[in-house]
Amino acid sequence: MYCFRKITDDLYWVGGNDRRLERFENIFPIPNGVTYNSYLLLDEKTVLFDTVDTAIGRQFLENIETVLDGRPLNYLVINHMEPDHCSLIEDLLLRHPDMQIIGNAKTFPMIDQFYGMDLEGKKIIVKEGETFSCGKHTLHFIMASMVHWPEVMMTYDDTDKVLFSADAFGTFGSLGGTIFNDEVDFDRDWLDEMRRYYTNIVGKYGAQVQNVLKKVSPLDIKYICALHGPIWRSNLEYILEKHDIWSKYEPEVQGVMIAYASMYGNTENAVDVLAVKLADAGVKNIVMHDISGTHVSHLIADTFKYSHLVLASPTYNAGIYPVMANYLEDMKALNIQNRTVAVLGNGSWAPMSAKLIEAKISEMKNMTLLTENCTIKSALKAEQLDVLDELAGKLAEEVLGKSE
Ligand code: FEO
Repeated sequence: MYCFRKITDDLYWVGGNDRRLERFENIFPIPNGVTYNSYLLLDEKTVLFDTVDTAIGRQFLENIETVLDGRPLNYLVINHMEPDHCSLIEDLLLRHPDMQIIGNAKTFPMIDQFYGMDLEGKKIIVKEGETFSCGKHTLHFIMASMVHWPEVMMTYDDTDKVLFSADAFGTFGSLGGTIFNDEVDFDRDWLDEMRRYYTNIVGKYGAQVQNVLKKVSPLDIKYICALHGPIWRSNLEYILEKHDIWSKYEPEVQGVMIAYASMYGNTENAVDVLAVKLADAGVKNIVMHDISGTHVSHLIADTFKYSHLVLASPTYNAGIYPVMANYLEDMKALNIQNRTVAVLGNGSWAPMSAKLIEAKISEMKNMTLLTENCTIKSALKAEQLDVLDELAGKLAEEVLGKSE
């Protein structure tokens, strides 16, 4: 049975939810599922903005035919050519053989790469700033390369002031009837997953996101229709500001994220002692992750969120404990910068982890190290408490000083 909602007089949400997929991109756990949003505009011409993943193809096609109510689909705008949004192109062409496809110069080679379709005579290639009239509505095209793939563009509907923003402003999580931001408790139920989505999927491309934020800032936007997650029709400055902070790699919260790995509980004990000292010093925003049991995407999200990081890890095979090494690789790949970091190492006969982690941190941009080879041998000893006192004092001074 069809399942859609009206957004404006002419625009419909015709997407759907996948609550069965375990991992987005086969990497990121999504316990709350994910939406694949698609939007259908009924004007003198009918225009669909992106398709969906095959997982919800049947629902999607039924939604479209119901909203079209016998009309042909004239145009498909492809804002993003990742398969979670473009898997139904061929199915649409079979149903609507006269449909034309609107994309940019980078869109069509990707259609060929993924699907090998002959689109001769069906392509409309648009460039930055070009417009397209579908009757009452005029569409403007805004190139958004690398947010999140090279061919990404956004489309702005002049008439209803709708920004079809592709992956930008998206989030993990499925919708349950309430598809608008003002119908959900966003801070409680969605913000953490939006941060995890942004930082892991688009986090590397902060400069490109900043570029697009500058391009869209002069627009009068009443709706933001992203490809994943709720549709924004109020309080738009809220998500614009969040994305501005994230894409500038600025922390959202003055506080300390402690990420530790511990084989037998001794490194964990050291960070527990440090955390108590931080709390005694007045730091309230402390979050602690045992990284052996935490998916790295959660670590990345909190790394973007907090101003100060404590990384603690045993030495393993004369190197960094593997889960910590993986987390550090991800931090670098996602361009993490502008953080203050303290490192605690551990090792029973040749402790190396502190030095090696500090070397990895030094390869990242604008990172400040508060420690230099601060190491315990097997277990924390009373004579090392002064070192932790000093470290907790430094962290507290910075965190509290900047939060006043
Ligand atoms: Fe949801 Fe970059 O695709």
